[in-house]
This record gives sequence, C-alpha cells and structure tokens, in this order.
Amino acid sequence: MATEWTTETAEWYAAHYGEYATNSLAVDALDLPANAVIVDVGCGAGPALRHASQRVTTGALIGVDPVPRMVEIAQARAADHPAAARLEFRVGSAESLPVDDGVADFVFAFDSFDHWQDKAAGLAEVRRILRPAGQLVVVKDGGVPGGAKAAKAFVKRLTDAGFALAREETIEVDEVSFTLWICSLPESIDFR
Ligand SMILES: C[S@@+](CC[C@H](N)C(=O)[O-])C[C@H]1O[C@@H](n2cnc3c(N)ncnc32)[C@H](O)[C@@H]1O
Repeated sequence: MATEWTTETAEWYAAHYGEYATNSLAVDALDLPANAVIVDVGCGAGPALRHASQRVTTGALIGVDPVPRMVEIAQARAADHPAAARLEFRVGSAESLPVDDGVADFVFAFDSFDHWQDKAAGLAEVRRILRPAGQLVVVKDGGVPGGAKAAKAFVKRLTDAGFALAREETIEVDEVSFTLWICSLPESIDFR
C-alpha cells in the first residue's frame, strides 16, 4: 500500500530512516563538481544534501519535499551544519517544483520516485529545471521490485520521458543494497 505522507509519517520516517546510509553511499558514487547546483526531490530529512555539501563547496543545495513537517525537520538538521548557509529546503512536490527553469546540474530522486503521484508530470518538471547537460539521479533501495521485467519498464519510463540512460549500477555495502540510475538530458531536447 502506498505511504500517505503526512506530519505523522514524516516524523516517523525521519526518526527511523532519516539518515539512512543509502543517501551518503549514493552521493559518494557521483562525480559532483564543487560548483554544482543540486535539487533533491523528495529530500526527506535532507541527509543527501548535507553529505554532498562536503564536495559541493561553492554550489547550491536545494531540497524539496511536499510535507511541510519534513521540510522543517530537514531545516532543523541542517541548522548547525557547516554548510548551513548553502542548504535550502522548500515545500513542493515533484509535480510542481518550486525551482526556476534550467538551473539544476543534478536532480536527485533518492527513494522518492515511487512516491510521486504523477510520474510523467514529475519527469517533465525535472526536465524543466535541469540545465541542458544536467543529470537526473534516481536511487531505489533494493532495486526495482518485481524483477527484471519491472526494472526494464522503469528504465523505459525514463527514456520515454526524454532521458538517456548514462549509468545503471547496483551498489552493495554491508547490509545496504541499492540501484542507481543516472540519466542525462540530450541538449537538443525541446522540453516545452
Ligand atoms: C522514502 S522517503 C525518502 C526521503 C529521502 N530522499 C531519503 O532517501 O531519506 C520519500 C520522500 O518522498 C516524499 N514525497 C512524497 N510524495 C512526493 C511527491 N509527490 N513529490 C516529491 N516527493 C514526495 C516524502 O514526503 C518523503 O520525504
């Protein structure tokens, strides 16, 4: 059954999984320039951006989550962080991102894609906010449920939305196993 994201589920998730290892492990697997602009869609408590800030030292780190309480938690956890001034969290959903056109070098969807209400609308929004050579990074803990056929259908959903798959990798560290997809946006695409 789909999770209903409310104040209560946000507090429960943040308390139990808010700093889950996938976030830092996935960030570690990426080549992030110091001046990157990253938008983390469905950012939860904000661990991925806090971790990314160690390498993204001059860029911008923007987390977006539709649950106001989740955004408050992310802001509270970032408040004493050394990169606090560059960490920003906004209320908004994948389907209507509160981000200007063409500003993001990377859009993260770490264990959030399956929670988007309207995947096509969310992917269109990702295309809108990415720079022409920007990248969408999707992470799923445990990979795609349903086996190889479901995994293929998931990739097709991304390519049908105009993304080119640049890298697909399953990463396993201790008890943690997740799959990461990096998709690029062909510069020629007309997203409007
Ligand atoms: C499983 S949590 C993952 C949070 C964080 N990325 C992490 O890995 O710790 C899923 C997140 O997606 C958010 N979410 C739910 N519906 C969403 C939507 N339509 N657009 C963007 N994010 C959404 C939830 O509020 C929640 O913070």
